[in-house]
Order: sequence, then C-alpha cells, then structure tokens
Amino acid sequence: MEAVLIKENVYWVGAIDWNLRDFHGYSTNLGGTYNAYLIIDEKVTLIDNVYAPFAFEMIARIKSVIDPSKIEIIISNHSEPDHSGSIRDILKLAPNAKIYASGPSGVRSMMGTYHNIEVFPVKTSEIINIGKRDLQFIQTPLVHWPDNMVTYSSYDQILFSNDMFGQHIASFERYDDSFPLSLLLDELKKYYANIVLPYGAQTQKALTAVKSLDIKLIAPSHGLIWKKHIDAAYDLYEKMSTYHKENKAVVIYDSMWGSTEKMALEVGETFEKAGIKTVVRHVRTSPASDLIVDLMDAKYIAVGSPTLNNGMMPSIASFFCYMRGLNPRNLSFFVFGSYGWSGQGTEFADRDLEAMGYHRLMKPLRILYAPKDEQLIQMKEVILTVLNKL
Ligand code: FEO
Repeated sequence: MEAVLIKENVYWVGAIDWNLRDFHGYSTNLGGTYNAYLIIDEKVTLIDNVYAPFAFEMIARIKSVIDPSKIEIIISNHSEPDHSGSIRDILKLAPNAKIYASGPSGVRSMMGTYHNIEVFPVKTSEIINIGKRDLQFIQTPLVHWPDNMVTYSSYDQILFSNDMFGQHIASFERYDDSFPLSLLLDELKKYYANIVLPYGAQTQKALTAVKSLDIKLIAPSHGLIWKKHIDAAYDLYEKMSTYHKENKAVVIYDSMWGSTEKMALEVGETFEKAGIKTVVRHVRTSPASDLIVDLMDAKYIAVGSPTLNNGMMPSIASFFCYMRGLNPRNLSFFVFGSYGWSGQGTEFADRDLEAMGYHRLMKPLRILYAPKDEQLIQMKEVILTVLNKL
C-alpha cells in the first residue's frame, strides 16, 4: 500500500474501509475512509491517524515514503477513535514524536482515552513551525466533539478539516472531481445530518473562520478531498448550519396489519395536494440515519403508529430516541394511527413530539380497526383544512 501525493511533500496516508456499513448507527452504504496526512518537512508531521484495526494500512503507506521513526510531530485534530485509534501503533515506531491536540479538551480526551501518553495543548491562532511550513490551528468545538480543531498550512493552502466537510465514501480516488457532484453533496449532507446537526451555531462559527483562509484544498478526515467544489461544500454547510428549510413533509410510519399504512399513504398524498413536497417512509425499511436526512430540511413531520399493547410501536420510539439526539429544528407535526381497543399509541407519539419542542398542527388522528374509505376521506379533509391555513 502506498501513500498518495496530494501536494509537494504532502501525502494522504489514510485507510479505506470498504466494508463499513454501520458507523455507530449511521448507515454507510458506500463504505468510508479514515484519512491521515503526512507532511515531509524539517520536522516530519502526521496529521490525524486512523481507526485502530486499520493501523497496518496507514503504517504501510507511511513506510512507502519515509521511515516512520522520523515522525517528530503528531497533530490530533480530534480524539474520537476513528482519527486517533492508531496513536499507540505510531508511538511504538516514533516514540519521541510530540503530540499536539486542542487545549484543554483534546488533551484531556486523548489522555483519558489512551492513558500514559503526553499531549501538548494548542489553541486557536497558535502556530507551530515545522520547517518551510507554519501550521495554524483553529479550534472548532462541537464540530463534532468539544475537542475538534482544524489545521491550516498556509504554505500549501491546505485545510486539514477533520470531521468538518467529511463524507462517508470508500474510494481509491482522492478528489471531489472523481464523483458526480450530486452524489458527493448527498453524502456531505448525510454526514452532517448524522454527526453535526445539533451544532449549527458552532458550525457557523467554524465556517466563518475557515472561509477567511486562502484555501486550495480541504482535506477532511473522511472521504474525498475538496478541490474543484469547495464553494459548493461551503454553500451546503451554510444552508445546513442555519437550518435551512424546504416546503417539504416527511411521513414516517409503522404498521402491524396495514391499516396505519393505508392512513400513511393518504396522509402523504394530502400533503402533496396542499402543495408540499412529501416522502413517505416505513420506519423499519428506512434506516434512522436516512430519515434524519429527510427531516433536516423539512418543515413538517407526520408520524403514524398503531397501538401495540399499551403504547406506540417500539420502532417509532426507537426512531424518536435517535431523532431527539440529533434534534432537527423547526418542525410542525401531527400523528395518526389505527387501533383495536385502547388506542394510546398515537397519544404517546404525540406527547413525545411535543416534548421535543415541535409545533403540533392538530390532535392525533385515530381510526378504530381497519379504515373505511369514508373515514380516510374524512381524515384527508381534516388535514387539508389545517394545511390550507398555513
Ligand atoms: Fe470522524 Fe467525530 O469522528
């Protein structure tokens, strides 16, 4: 395995995880990469490393250009194990390398995770010189952990952005112009929705800082390097971090015997009739990480659940747990569902959505047993009346 030259004396030495399909609950259909970068200067510098099972791959790539014992500086932009998990493997080969992380949270997190290592703090605007290059740090807390920072090399005009601008795509290609832009932006969006979404204000701050730099390459720690489409990535980050909304609805449902499903299809069609672009998703066939992408720029959510025993379907409750953590903003909602006797499923779903801070459009719509045509027509009329007043 070989390093990939991305700029004079700057190499990609990461790892490709072709089989990655689940990144702590985020479905990664295209696999992923853990990107690390090696700079050959007077002080050889490694920026980030890779998830521990892939240490061999990173080390092989480093060895293809230099003896790893020559590494003098290790920058840890982020302590999450997908970017720091091989630190011990590197230290075995380069025991005198000096590790830098953002202070104090990066230092604390690295030492708390790996124990018995020494880590030196750096802060925003601090610079370390490695020879021809000055490496400048900008702390970007909560994009996506408190310790995140980015590293900028003005000599190369490269921003090593870590999670920021990352996408989960496994590929031998390294640059953004190797893929259709729409695919790349979809993956950028999915990554943001599932990793960064709760932290819009912090992302705005980071984006402002980054945009003030003269950048020719953005080298994230996941996926492809931004070269041709940097402005498109900025524009999408601007929209996402300001919680931009489309006139769009998402109908999410589960169904035991098809009755709530019938309602869901009619609910979806009613939104469309009101001029609102709508998708209908069965919660057990759409991964939660895809549903969050749907919801991120939607204005409306309608949730359908039958009553199972004395509550909502566990699949819906599980999705609410995921949704609560990522906190898509500014949604208006209503719930619907069929029931056989007690019918609390819709009440519980309604209560949960209200507790998440969303705006209720109408009381739960319930139908006893299987819906008759006239009940569905009546339900659509009720919904349309409310939607037409928006
Ligand atoms: Fe790619 Fe927050 O780690």
